[in-house]
Amino acid sequence: MMQSMPVGKYLLHSMYGNNHAHLDRDVFGIHFRSPIGLAAGIDHNGELIDAWSAAGFGFAEVGSITSHTQGSTPHPHLFRLKADHALLNRAEIESAGVEQVIENIKRRHSRIVVGGNITKNTTTAREDAPREYLRLFRPLYQYVDYFTVNICCNSTENQFVPTDKEEIMAILTPLFEFRRGQNQYRPILLKISPDMSDEQIDLMTDIMLDTPLDGIVATGGTTGRYGLDKSATQMHELGRTAGTLSGTPLKSRAIEVVKRIYVRSKGTYPIIGCGGISTAEDAKAMLDAGATLVQICTEFIYNGGKAIRRINLGLDELLNKPEPSGTPAKATDTAEEATTTTEKATTTANTQPLKAE
Ligand SMILES: Cc1cc2nc3c(=O)[nH]c(=O)nc-3n(C[C@H](O)[C@H](O)[C@H](O)COP(=O)(O)O)c2cc1C
Repeated sequence: MMQSMPVGKYLLHSMYGNNHAHLDRDVFGIHFRSPIGLAAGIDHNGELIDAWSAAGFGFAEVGSITSHTQGSTPHPHLFRLKADHALLNRAEIESAGVEQVIENIKRRHSRIVVGGNITKNTTTAREDAPREYLRLFRPLYQYVDYFTVNICCNSTENQFVPTDKEEIMAILTPLFEFRRGQNQYRPILLKISPDMSDEQIDLMTDIMLDTPLDGIVATGGTTGRYGLDKSATQMHELGRTAGTLSGTPLKSRAIEVVKRIYVRSKGTYPIIGCGGISTAEDAKAMLDAGATLVQICTEFIYNGGKAIRRINLGLDELLNKPEPSGTPAKATDTAEEATTTTEKATTTANTQPLKAE
């Protein structure tokens, strides 16, 4: 390994890399060496892909990527609510634009799984969103392993969080059509907001069941202000402000959303669980709720590379422990249902292409 890696990267890999027997998995026909990935919002422009690999992430989601350069929000826009292990983010998405992101991705050497998280520019009119997502999807197609269609842009007053089926299908359909003409299959996932109602979450799940959509990323940050018991003074000082909350306060809602999608879809499609995951136990709870993969963002901002090493190590140990007898495999109601859904999820995970179009 030493011979094929620059010294700095070798050191990083030996400090933070992972070789854990229980973490490997195949999802959408893609091999992941760990189910723990880097969420969108850290590497907007795909500049550090090799570092994510060396640090031990199983995958890295680049973005959100916009068509044209946009940002940066006048500072300050990111507030640490340390006592609650949370962040308040009121930044507009900062992107160097899709052409630059492609140049950056081309320079990668590692084979880590890379997701392309795409969204529209803030200034693009809502009715032009479908055209813009396609403008991002087409050039990126050969450079990423899967796509996340981000419809959870809620960190500024200028929100874009479509919840209407027609509006969402107007975005997704051209992407499905483009993919149909390609030799390689790129899974497409939808990233949703934790602020959706149960009915809206069911609608997103039904879109996944009824269309060629391959999975859901649940969730982005919340515009809610719950779970901030220890940050009352700081929140008071900040006053009423736009922005999304992430980190520990979001955890139970994110897990609840994943569970709801898993139960309604009977575990037939992959879900990437994201929101408030900061320990191996949190990651395990997310997997038990029905997630196939898990992402971290706030925890990484607080603790850097040592967080992923700790979570990989701890999760490997937890997954190695036999479950107490009678424990359902995942978040389902009955033992019978649990057996069926686990079988389905396994079948799905190992089948490529994932969906017949
Ligand atoms: C500073 C910051 C920037 C973010 N930017 C994006 C983004 O560009 N696109 C996106 O889909 N999600 C973005 N997110 C949301 C995260 O990907 C994640 O869904 C959310 O923070 C919940 O996970 P966490 O509790 O582990 O942070 C951002 C979050 C933070 C804190």
